[in-house]
Amino acid sequence: MKHIRVLIFMLMLAMLGGPAHAEPFDPPALYLTWQQDPTTTMTVQWHTLDDSRPSELAYRQADDHDAPWQQAIGEHWPFPHTDRFIHAVEIVDLEPNTDYLFRFTDAGPEYRFRTMPADASEPVVFVVGGDLMHRRTWMEIVNEQMAAREPMFAVLGGDLAYEDGHPDKVDRLFDFFEAWKNTAVTPDGRIIPMIPLIGNHEVDGGWQRDRAKAPFFYDLFTMPGWPGYATLDFGDYLSLIILDSGHIIPVDGEQSDWLDQQLAERRERGITHVFPVYHVPAYPSVRHFYDGRSRDVRNHWPPIFDKHDVDIAFENHDHAYKRTHRLRDGQVDPTGTLYVGDGAWGVQLRPVKTGPEEEVWYLDEAHSIHHVIIVTLHEQDRWLEAIDNEGKTFDRYPPEE
Ligand SMILES: [Fe+2]
Repeated sequence: MKHIRVLIFMLMLAMLGGPAHAEPFDPPALYLTWQQDPTTTMTVQWHTLDDSRPSELAYRQADDHDAPWQQAIGEHWPFPHTDRFIHAVEIVDLEPNTDYLFRFTDAGPEYRFRTMPADASEPVVFVVGGDLMHRRTWMEIVNEQMAAREPMFAVLGGDLAYEDGHPDKVDRLFDFFEAWKNTAVTPDGRIIPMIPLIGNHEVDGGWQRDRAKAPFFYDLFTMPGWPGYATLDFGDYLSLIILDSGHIIPVDGEQSDWLDQQLAERRERGITHVFPVYHVPAYPSVRHFYDGRSRDVRNHWPPIFDKHDVDIAFENHDHAYKRTHRLRDGQVDPTGTLYVGDGAWGVQLRPVKTGPEEEVWYLDEAHSIHHVIIVTLHEQDRWLEAIDNEGKTFDRYPPEE
């Protein structure tokens, strides 16, 4: 009789797909990143409270109900200074511009993502902003406005959770990821992928040139081409050049040489949309023009942007909104680069500077306002729109006629 009971129990387990698959699993942190071309890949990352769960998921095309669920397997590693674990699974060989569902167990829940389009023949919309979470509610409010605009992804321009690389402030990271999971989702349930980069508040001491001083950042996000700066190429229409403005990697030297070479290569390949993005502004809207950190960036990167005719560079860190005039060789010049930022997603705002003239000559627009910047790519041009925490547009480039 006992044997029959065991047999029945085992049969029931088999019908349920085994104990590991019987229970729904909804992780405390769930976010999407990329390591390779976003038109055909997606990296799913999540956290677990211990190491009892495997790094695997099942996925299938969302609109093809006959599509079988496929398994994808990745890896996990300890979340430093906590009991948690960080998981990452990269899914490859996906169709461009296609919705997929994924889940961690047969019991769900199911989540949704969309791969990037293969080209910009239809408008491609994404979001750029920085300086995210002084207060969780400030960030969440802007996240909701961002999500309502249904961007394909969000570039997070440094200073994310303000844990400052301190183990005793790790709760801020738990909060950041929980808030992101709950609010960076479009109205139709699609998770908005993130492309994060490093700012001073990811580093104990801000500018330490010592990776041990940023004990969380590099473990939390799988990114292409670390040591800390990288290019993410989207097909052959968009390249994001992700830079470290001197926090762990010096601005000059190897990183600047690499930037020069990356821009030259993208130009040779005829990539239409190429955007450098980094934390500390070359052209600050709040801080002094001769602030040493800004001057370091300004001395090294804008000359390289000039050389390769970069159209727009995205900056952060000053806790305000700014759009400069077009600048080349340190002067207003209609053939130059537009510098747009300045990082006020969910942080305490700072007053933008108003003068003297030698301090503000480069600023076309500057406002102390919580915002993100919506970027819309077309085949040959690009449009910027800054929206505030009520979703209202307060700046556009080019300006409407
Ligand atoms: Fe900053």
